[in-house]
Order: sequence, then C-alpha cells, then structure tokens
Amino acid sequence: MSITLYHGSGNPNLSLQSISIIGGAERKQGNKYGGFYTVDQASYKNAAAYARMNGGEPTMYALEVRGDANIWDKPGDITRLSIADIQKWRDQGIDIVRGKDFRGQVEYAIINRDIVTGMKAEALIESLGLRDFITIVEQAHIYSEEELQAMDIDDLDRLAFGYADDDLIEIDPRDISIKWHCDLENPEHKYKLGGDTWVNSVDLSEPVEVSINEDGVMELEDGHHRRFAALKRGEKLLAKIEIKGSPVRAILKRQGMM
Ligand SMILES: NC(=O)c1ccc[n+]([C@@H]2O[C@H](COP(=O)([O-])OP(=O)(O)OC[C@H]3O[C@@H](n4cnc5c(N)ncnc54)[C@H](O)[C@@H]3O)[C@@H](O)[C@H]2O)c1
Repeated sequence: MSITLYHGSGNPNLSLQSISIIGGAERKQGNKYGGFYTVDQASYKNAAAYARMNGGEPTMYALEVRGDANIWDKPGDITRLSIADIQKWRDQGIDIVRGKDFRGQVEYAIINRDIVTGMKAEALIESLGLRDFITIVEQAHIYSEEELQAMDIDDLDRLAFGYADDDLIEIDPRDISIKWHCDLENPEHKYKLGGDTWVNSVDLSEPVEVSINEDGVMELEDGHHRRFAALKRGEKLLAKIEIKGSPVRAILKRQGMM
C-alpha cells in the first residue's frame, strides 16, 4: 500500500525529476537546507495555503510514496533541515522526516526521492475558504520575547520542543543521544557476561529519563541498561521528559532573533 502526500507550489511545472533533496537554485535558502516538504491528507489545506502563498500559479502535487518508506518521527521543529543532518539520516536509512513546524502543524520532509513512485499535478481544490486562509496566515506568527515570557510554561515548552515536562512518550532508542558515556560501560560489561539472556531479562516497562536541551536534542539521563537492551531487541522505550533548554531562547533563535 502506498501513502499519498501533498505539496503545494506556485510552480505548475514540477516533476518527479525536478525534486532536489539538497539545494536547488530556485529555492529559498536552498543551498543550506534541504528536503521536499509535504503534508498528509488531513493537512491538505496547509499545502494549499503554501501553494497560494508561493506566488506564480497555485498548484497541488499528489505524491505516491512507497508504503514501506522509513518514516522517522523527529521531535521538535523540522522547518529547516541542514544538509549535514539530511546526509546523516540518509546513511541511517531514513526516507522521510516527520515532525512539526513552529506552529505545531505536522509536516513530512522527504529526504529520499527514490521512495516517491509517482507525482501528479492537481488543480487546487477551491474548498479552502478565505477564513481558513487568513487563519493559516495569522498562525504564522513571530513571537516577541515578552509574549513568550507571558505564556504558560507547558504551552511554551510544547511550542519550542514539541514536549513538556513529565510527558510520558514512546521513543525509538536510536533517537536518544548519550550524554554520560561512562554510564555505557556497565551495560556493555553485563552484555559481555550474560549475552542475549541478560538482554532479554531487562525490564523495559519502567520509563527511562530523557532531557531535551536548547537545540532540541534528546539526551539520556537515566536508563542506560534499558536503552542498551531495547537497541539489541529492536524495541521501543517509554521515556519521561525533562525540559532543560530555555524554550524562550530556543524559539527566539529559531525566529532569527538571537
Ligand atoms: N509547500 C508545501 O506544500 C509545504 C508542505 C509542508 C510544509 N511546508 C513548509 O514550508 C516551508 C517552505 O517550503 P516550500 O516547499 O514551500 O519551499 P520553498 O519556499 O523553498 O519553495 C520555493 C519553490 O521551490 C519548490 N520546491 C520546494 N522544495 C523543492 C525541492 N526539494 N525540489 C524542487 N523544488 C522544490 C516549491 O514548490 C516552490 O515552487 C518549509 O520549510 C515547510 O516548513 C511547505
């Protein structure tokens, strides 16, 4: 089964061949950032708004994507993906990065063109009312420091990082960075002694503790044995979130205001 994703553009002549994952002369800041941004059916209207905002001739593209594409749920904002990150994720076999823009809306950045099996231009469905369009433009809001300081801390954390303190989430152990490298020695030693028997005996039901720093990086604070075992077993982990980075600084930086 394939998945359908939508891209809105002001260019009526895009084709599968013209999608460039990295760079692309006509794209804004295309030399520094990459990916082909799309949305799913539920957010069709957002892509339609991009098509209208782009200038040119508003056109919607429906992309057929292979059902077995490797979609990675990246925490935090994914509005701009650097070329270096894209290359790293491609090396890890990731095809699509799914995450949120700074307004919290879900978007899919395709980083492997080969998983797109078809692309066709469609007339823009005119169901996007003026009110919807204004709402989307209004949401593209640049926050001042004062506005951010006045917000509820959980709302602020979610806007900045996608999560708030004490959120309990399911996470792929590969998405957690190691902060305390010396804490890895203990599980490695246990694995040497006990092998898979030890790996299979580790209880993964208790959440590990993960902090999020100002760059949105998730770091392991506690649970090195569970992470090690989950990696070996190919299983996910439960994680309790602690926000360590300043959300205000993170948002201001992202808006280019710091
Ligand atoms: N356009 C969409 O449907 C869409 C969907 C989800 C999110 N977004 C958001 O909008 C921001 C801007 O994205 P954009 O796609 O509108 O880019 P853009 O503003 O850089 O687009 C400029 C032009 O380049 C085309 N283009 C975009 N990516 C391309 C690629 N990889 N290869 C060839 N042509 C490409 C676009 O269709 C457009 O004609 C993204 O950072 C993302 O957060 C856009």
